[in-house]
Amino acid sequence: MKKLNVELGEGSYSILIGSDLLAQSGVLFAANGVKGRIMVVTNPTVAQWYLEPLMDSLRSSGYQAEAFLIPDGEEYKSLEQANRIYDQLVKGKYDRKSVLVALGGGVIGDLTGFVAATYMRGIRFIQVPTTLLAQVDSSIGGKTAVNHPQGKNLIGVFYQPSLVVSDVATFGTLPDREFSSGMVEVIKHGVILDPEYFKMLLNELPALKTRKPELMTEIVEGSCRIKARIVQEDEKETGLRGILNFGHTIGHALESITDYQYYKHGEAVAVGILAALKIAIRNDTLQDSGLEQSLAFLFGALDLPTAIPGLNVAEIISLLYLDKKVEYGKVRWVLPERLGQVTISNEIPGETVKDTLLELGGV
Ligand SMILES: NC(=O)c1ccc[n+]([C@@H]2O[C@H](COP(=O)([O-])OP(=O)(O)OC[C@H]3O[C@@H](n4cnc5c(N)ncnc54)[C@H](O)[C@@H]3O)[C@@H](O)[C@H]2O)c1
Repeated sequence: MKKLNVELGEGSYSILIGSDLLAQSGVLFAANGVKGRIMVVTNPTVAQWYLEPLMDSLRSSGYQAEAFLIPDGEEYKSLEQANRIYDQLVKGKYDRKSVLVALGGGVIGDLTGFVAATYMRGIRFIQVPTTLLAQVDSSIGGKTAVNHPQGKNLIGVFYQPSLVVSDVATFGTLPDREFSSGMVEVIKHGVILDPEYFKMLLNELPALKTRKPELMTEIVEGSCRIKARIVQEDEKETGLRGILNFGHTIGHALESITDYQYYKHGEAVAVGILAALKIAIRNDTLQDSGLEQSLAFLFGALDLPTAIPGLNVAEIISLLYLDKKVEYGKVRWVLPERLGQVTISNEIPGETVKDTLLELGGV
C-alpha cells in the first residue's frame, strides 16, 4: 500500500492507495484516527460489488455504520438527493462527530462531500473512490458540488476530505469507456507537469490496459502526487490550479452541446486536449514536435474520440463564454508549451479557435 499526504495545514489528509483496501477499511480508518458513527453513501451499481466488504470491515472494527443509496447517474448529483441525505442524517440523529463515507465515482464523491460540508456546518467525510477518474482527480482537491438545472457544478464549496482510501482492485468491474475516460486525466497530469510520468504511461500502455493492481497503484499514486502538489500550492484555484483545466475549456463546451449524453467527461477532455494542442500550434507557441503524435497514439490506443464530426462550431464558441473559467469576458486557455509545461493565455483570437474546431471536424 502507498500513502501520500496532502499538506493543507489543519486540513491535511492522507491518500491510501493499493489493492483490496476495501476489506481492510475498518483497520485503515482506525489507524487514521477516524471516530464516530458512519453513514456510507453509494449507488446500487457500486453497492452490488463493494458495499458488503466495506460494511463488514467497518463493523468488524467496531464502527457503527449504515448505508444510504442514491440512484446511479449524473442527474442525481442534485440538491434533491442532497436533501434526501440530510433527511436521513437528521432522522438518524447523526451529530457533528459523525462521518460520511463516499463509496463510488465522482458523482457520489461530489454529492457526499457537498452534504458533509453543509450538514451542521460541516462534518468529516472520507472518500472511497471506485472509478479511475475519481481516484486520480475528483476525490482529491476538495471540490464538492451539486448540479443546477441550468449548469453543472454550479452549487458547491471547497471542502477537503479527512482521508481518501483508493482501492485499485475496484477497476476490475469498471467498463472500458469509464477506464479510458479516467486515463485522460492521468495523461493530462503528465502533460501539464511531469514528463517522466508521461513517458512511463507511453511505455506501460499495453500492461496498463490489463489494469494490473501493482501498475495501477503506481499510476494512481503518480497522478495523485501531481494533483496534490498543485492543490497544496493553490487550494482555492486562484492561480496555479488553473492548469488542471487543460483540455477542459473545449471539453466542457462539448459535454454541454451534446447535453451530457454523448461524451463521457474524459472523452470530451481528450478532444479538448487535442484542440488546445492545435491552438498552441496555430499560435506558434508549441515547442515540442513529438507531443501531438504521442497524444494521438495514447488516445487511439484507449479508443478515445479525437474529433467532433458534425458539431456546430459557432455554438461551441458561444458556450465557451458561459464557462466558470471566463474572466472579464475572456476565455482562459491552458495551452501546452512542451511536455510537462503549459501556459495560460486569454489572448487567443476567435478565428484561431474557429479554425481549430473546423480542423477537428466541426461545421
Ligand atoms: N470534484 C472534482 O474535483 C471533480 C473532478 C472531476 C470530475 N468531477 C465530477 O465527477 C463526476 C464524474 O465522475 P465519474 O467519472 O467517476 O462518474 P460516475 O460517478 O458517474 O461513475 C461512472 C459510472 O461508473 C459506475 N461505477 C463506479 N465505480 C465502479 C466500479 N468500480 N465498477 C463499475 N462501475 C462503477 C458508476 O455507478 C457510474 O455508473 C462528474 O459529476 C464530475 O463533475 C469532480
